[in-house]
Amino acid sequence: MISKAKITAVGGYVPDRRLTNSDLEKLVETSDEWIVRRTGIKERRILPDDQFTSDLAFGAVRHMLNQYNVSLEDVDLVIVATTTPDYGFPSVAALLQARFHMERAGAFDLNAACAGFEYALHVANALVTSGWHRKILVVAADAMSKVTDYTDRTTCILFGDGAGAALVEYSEEPGFIGAFMGADGNMGKALYRTGISTVMNREALIASGKVVQNGREVFKWAVKNVVGGVSDLLDQNGLDLSDIDWFVPHSANLRMIESICERIHFPMNKVLYSMVYYGNTSSASIPLAIHDGLKEGKLKKGDLLLLYGFGGGLVHCGQLIKCSF
Ligand code: UT7
Repeated sequence: MISKAKITAVGGYVPDRRLTNSDLEKLVETSDEWIVRRTGIKERRILPDDQFTSDLAFGAVRHMLNQYNVSLEDVDLVIVATTTPDYGFPSVAALLQARFHMERAGAFDLNAACAGFEYALHVANALVTSGWHRKILVVAADAMSKVTDYTDRTTCILFGDGAGAALVEYSEEPGFIGAFMGADGNMGKALYRTGISTVMNREALIASGKVVQNGREVFKWAVKNVVGGVSDLLDQNGLDLSDIDWFVPHSANLRMIESICERIHFPMNKVLYSMVYYGNTSSASIPLAIHDGLKEGKLKKGDLLLLYGFGGGLVHCGQLIKCSF
């Protein structure tokens, strides 16, 4: 099926406060040397205690509006990909709908963990292509610091807070070239979050459960599935890796990306990633890498992007997208 949608604007946001590797050395038994060697991460950004995922999402959308001449007035749906919503409900999407006065929009949150942005783009493309919607605001936002156990050195060195936004609009020129997704629920126990808040109280989120991960298992699963998924996605669309201008995998771990690229024979200088200064920002890691790629003048209009998200579920999703923003 040929897409009738494209991305017309993007934005990104991270909070100001930095959490460096040397800060973490004071919290748990770890070292800057270990963290950089095993993950490539140098620092992360952390929200203040009184701000939450909807504040990250707000920042990303506001940044998008400052960068592009677009309006939210006629947005007819808001989709927020997150696993760290401010509340059980209302959704972050509904909070955002109110803050930007999108009077004509429906709103819902989507949970596909670190692959949330790619799943949300898939849904938005399908709804616009089908004609049911014309203009959809997609946001990926995660306040991972609120659900990170800072006594667990195997997880607390990884995560940071951030958000990315994209506007998906009707277009005769297709911006979405192809998508590939999969899930392996049997592997769910390798990466999960305990408990969840249902209380209408912003502070409740902090006590609402923590991330638990078998890093080694997730690492092996992700490398295998991303390598296979990239190959299937390209085959389905009659494309080759040499057609890809930028590969943007989920920024969980730089060593994992190097391992994937080694296996598929893809050059690291054509990869965009965001974990070095933001940590693993879950659903926001791919839009933040795109945001930095634009800021650094790497991405150009017309470039072919291969996005590949993976994470809790376990789930994964690849997207082939023409840069139209
Ligand atoms: O975004 C969602 C998807 N998540 C991922 O993709 C994460 C995938 N996994 C990873 O990124 C890596 O597995 C980690 C970075 C989480 C861990 O790296 P690893 O190379 O797989 O280390 P490991 O878990 O096998 O642990 C190796 C050693 C252990 O010590 P022993 O048993 O060999 O004595 C750990 O206890 O390193 C130890 N270790 C640490 N040492 C210093 C674990 N965490 C730390 C730490 N500092 N922070």
